[in-house]
Amino acid sequence: TRPTVWVSQPLIDAAIAPLRDRVQLRTTDTVTAWSPQQIAAQLADVDGAIITLNERIGATQVADAAQLKVIANVGVGYNNLDVDALSAAGILASNTPDVLTETTADLGFALLMATARRITESERWLRDGQWGQWSFQTMLGADIHGSTLGVLGMGRIGQGIARRGAHGFGMKVLYHNRSRLPADTEAALGATHVDLDTLLAQSDHLLTVLPYTPASHHIIDAAALAKMKPSATLVNIARGGIVDELALADALANGRLAAAGLDVYEGEPNVRPELLALRNIALTPHIGSASLATRTAMVQMAVDNLLAGLGLDGSPSRMPSAINADAALAARAT
Ligand code: GLV
Ligand code: GLV
Repeated sequence: TRPTVWVSQPLIDAAIAPLRDRVQLRTTDTVTAWSPQQIAAQLADVDGAIITLNERIGATQVADAAQLKVIANVGVGYNNLDVDALSAAGILASNTPDVLTETTADLGFALLMATARRITESERWLRDGQWGQWSFQTMLGADIHGSTLGVLGMGRIGQGIARRGAHGFGMKVLYHNRSRLPADTEAALGATHVDLDTLLAQSDHLLTVLPYTPASHHIIDAAALAKMKPSATLVNIARGGIVDELALADALANGRLAAAGLDVYEGEPNVRPELLALRNIALTPHIGSASLATRTAMVQMAVDNLLAGLGLDGSPSRMPSAINADAALAARAT
């Protein structure tokens, strides 16, 4: 009999369709906020699952999932998965890196520009009928070209942003990352490694692009914000928990930071009223990877991972982007 696979949300039909010949599919036509118990129930009788960042999966969700072999996460960040718990249960997990890098870097830059040049604020002002109040000083923003761009987290997306800043906009690019890039990569990107305090102090525009882990939780807190220039802008496209949102709202409200752009939030899909109340903030609903081509490629990559993980195409040890292959396969062997 064919393996059974749960697809947690409506994704991109054209990319899911090829699976229908290979597995027994359980899909949904409705965007669903699955409860932790519902996720456990869905996983209890399937061999594989394709899920999004909205589904949190830990030990409790897989406790009854006796036949579950693979969870393919459609997204690069996988802080929604308890990887250790999955490994211990012999369940392979995968994500979708690389295919979304440039699209997400584009969004980071778009949000940076919207923030620095007050694009969304200007549009609200125009729609509110305030143009009649125009003055020579209306909507004065900060320049992007020739300014200093700080990139916190220098993975693939961070490198895409650095390249855009250095080569497209003539920015001086500083970055901070736990591990330094090789000198030739730094030179090609036009980026200089600095410590975190220097990054905070010298950036005119700071973009956070680092994975969300216990170490990066609230790495931008009140103390970090206090080290930034009052004229600076901050853009977060990684995960909400990287920024202390209340400290950010306070800094924005009190002139200690010029503006911020957020694509991610601590309580998605809820956005704090303290943020919504601010004039000097550009807000988008986690659309970093949301181009049609890239979302399609992400689903295709999740399908490829799933098929390999189930041993239907290639082998479980050869998933295109496994997160925990060695640990999960070792746990199965014992
Ligand atoms: C989206 O945020 C992702 O991690 O792919
Ligand atoms: C994050 O994983 C990145 O690719 O930057």
